[in-house]
Amino acid sequence: MSGKKQKIIVVAGARPNFMKIAPILRAMGKHPGLFDPLFVHTGQHYDDKMSRIFLEQLGLPDPHRDLGVGSGSHGAQTGQVLIRFEEVLLAEKPDRIMVVGDVNSTIACALAAAKLHIPVAHVEAGLRSNDRTMPEEINRILTDQISDMLFIPSRDAAQNLLAEGRPEEAIHFVGNVMIESLILFSRQIDGSGILKALNVEPGGYGLVTLHRPSNVDDPDVLKRIFEALTRIGERIPVLFPAHPRTVKQMRSFGLEAGGGGGPGIRMMDPLGYFDFLCLEKNAALVLTDSGGVQEETTFFRVPCITLRENTERPVTLTQGTNVLAGSDSGRIIGEGLAVLDGRKKKGSIPEFWDDRVSGRIVRVLAGGELS
Ligand code: UD1
Ligand code: UDP
Repeated sequence: MSGKKQKIIVVAGARPNFMKIAPILRAMGKHPGLFDPLFVHTGQHYDDKMSRIFLEQLGLPDPHRDLGVGSGSHGAQTGQVLIRFEEVLLAEKPDRIMVVGDVNSTIACALAAAKLHIPVAHVEAGLRSNDRTMPEEINRILTDQISDMLFIPSRDAAQNLLAEGRPEEAIHFVGNVMIESLILFSRQIDGSGILKALNVEPGGYGLVTLHRPSNVDDPDVLKRIFEALTRIGERIPVLFPAHPRTVKQMRSFGLEAGGGGGPGIRMMDPLGYFDFLCLEKNAALVLTDSGGVQEETTFFRVPCITLRENTERPVTLTQGTNVLAGSDSGRIIGEGLAVLDGRKKKGSIPEFWDDRVSGRIVRVLAGGELS
């Protein structure tokens, strides 16, 4: 490193990216002599409730560039990011880029950089669902193959990377940066007035998020899930801040406006970070197909029923409060009612899911310049 300040482009594009880059940008900001970070937003998510609110709440700087790619098929969206990000790389000539997570923006930016011989750091490397029908699994495998710094959130990820031939010296166990964000903003999360606004009590409601194509793009699957939510909604109110993809699909299947479920289901717009985490922390149970939500509920020790057959975050099953229930209504109802009847997994917090993750990351990036 020999004292040269590193220009690092830090990329985010979709909702789950923003809470991962916030602590890292903050940590880099503490060492202005070492890092010159530039935040680039790809524009994969663009609704205020999927993007702007997170930038504001997490105190992110205005993006240096917003690529404005928007929605599209996988090829169109990934291709647009690739084209537009390459232009940024050619203009800015960074020393390295950093990508997080597993969305289309992640692989597209990593690929653009790798082809220009610009080193890529991947935060949240090594997670594998072993299900290649998930678009994210393809993004994860390919991004890890072309990244030279692999920051892993849990030890199991190292085995996955080694099995795919990645070198041991590229792998750095730093912990879960999404959890660091949650700890960093715990005062604002606890200060949210959302329970009062929705007239629910701590421990008195269920919380749902759903957006995986395998769950929301098939009307039969989505209907089965709504059947289960309706049943759980007979016991407690079920709050459902719906992802725009899910709303779009519900509309196209004629499941809109509560038509999909009974009166116990309360559909609403996606929520900001503080309100959503406050609801998550105080829920009786969470039903989700989100990656990040499985981790956050483990940290909060709130029961999580994952509406998938697999997870790339196995530590949430082995150590945390997570259980897999797939999309079969009987199974989801069984797991949900078990929690409501008091049969809850205890769970513990995985190693390095703490508030020092970004510190570990910048130390590696600094390569000996920081002790
Ligand atoms: C993407 C990621 C997924 C991640 C999720 C987080 C990929 C392949 N998928 O899925 O891994 O878990 O984000 O939320 O990268 N839309 C809007 N407004 C927006 C964004 C999206 O209306 O601001 C609608 C559009 O109709 C769009 C659809 O949602 O076509 C899907 O958006 P897209 O970014 O392609 O994928 P997600 O399902 O959001
Ligand atoms: N989240 C939020 N508001 C919502 C739903 C989710 O702030 O209405 C947060 C959630 O707490 C987590 C992140 O968004 O921090 C997860 O994003 P998402 O589920 O969209 O993506 P995934 O993790 O599945 O890739």
